[in-house]
Amino acid sequence: MNKKTIKDIDLKGKKVFVRCDFNVPLDEELNITDNRRIVEALPTIKYLLENDCKIILASHLGRPNGEVKKEFSLLPVAKELSKLLGKEVKLAEDVIGESAKALTNNMNNGDIVLLENVRFDAREEKNEESLSKEFASMAEIFINDAFGTAHRAHSSTAGIAEYLPAVSGFLIEKELNFLGNTLENPKRPFVAILGGKKVSDKIGVMDSLLEKVDTLIIGGGMAYTFFKSMGYSVGDSICEEDKLDLAKELMRKAEQKNVKLVLPVDNVIADELSKDANSRVIDSDQIPDGWEGLDIGPKTLKIFENEIKTAKTVIWNGPVGLSEYEKFANGTKGVAETLANLKDCITVIGGGDSAAAIEKLGFSDKMTHISTGGGASLEFLEGKKLPGIECLLDK
Ligand code: 3PG
Repeated sequence: MNKKTIKDIDLKGKKVFVRCDFNVPLDEELNITDNRRIVEALPTIKYLLENDCKIILASHLGRPNGEVKKEFSLLPVAKELSKLLGKEVKLAEDVIGESAKALTNNMNNGDIVLLENVRFDAREEKNEESLSKEFASMAEIFINDAFGTAHRAHSSTAGIAEYLPAVSGFLIEKELNFLGNTLENPKRPFVAILGGKKVSDKIGVMDSLLEKVDTLIIGGGMAYTFFKSMGYSVGDSICEEDKLDLAKELMRKAEQKNVKLVLPVDNVIADELSKDANSRVIDSDQIPDGWEGLDIGPKTLKIFENEIKTAKTVIWNGPVGLSEYEKFANGTKGVAETLANLKDCITVIGGGDSAAAIEKLGFSDKMTHISTGGGASLEFLEGKKLPGIECLLDK
């Protein structure tokens, strides 16, 4: 990594503003259902404690659209952090108001204050200078450790870096090392598995991966746009009519670059989009009207497994079926299980739904790296510059 990290700067006793991504899933009672993003932030926070810092933490949670909404409060995060650190993390009642000022103006070394959801302030997402300056005035150093939000140019992720020395925390460093090394120096064969609903969400990443991988496996809703472009009937499956030419273009590019493009040969189709829908298995060129493809079929899973088993590096982004419904989760489970059983292979999971599927199946420990960024890891894989990283000091 060519950006400075907390190891490259003198932090002893300093007051630091640390942007984390504590955007964790909550259930209806506002309990955290997956604390991985909080756990992944601990190494940086602990290092700052060892260095006697006064620690101001900031994060967003969900999309409250610039309004204060109780259900988006960081209170559950403050409690979880206190529990994990065995130390009180005080939650300010506001972002930069009376409560935040009172708490952050009177800190001792080793104190930790978490500001309320930065998106309660409408200026945050607009990256407004006035808010960036207010954040900066609270501390001496800015540490960005919010990899999951590094693709957003907001006041607390990038704007603040204009006014303070800015370095990365350990999580951003780890993410960039894994994702970057995997892309730049992959052990071959290098296989990418892309799923998810729409081709349009993955155009950039497909285009970029076709320059690097040996095999590109495509599953999920976006496979049906490819089928349609090949002249297959797709019934009522999700299909982006305006992306048919693009799908053809991507297939041509794969051929030119000598990349093996693997599409499903059979599918689990359903007569409606519901968890109890009637379902059956059918070949990819036979999907009848009134039916839609919601998962890969068993023949396809075998083919995918065989491809994956030859790999020395695998990147996976996006489930290959509607995995939130048990009936259509077999493909995604099968892919996850195949990855979990690989020996001597680097497995990198690009955040979001595929990461959630791996967690749910209890395979997290079997992966080389699970990114904490959904959108951010996708943009990184596309080769885009991430504002939350670009703003940091060069080494
Ligand atoms: C995420 O969950 O992908 C990040 O926390 C970013 O959230 P956002 O898409 O609401 O900016």
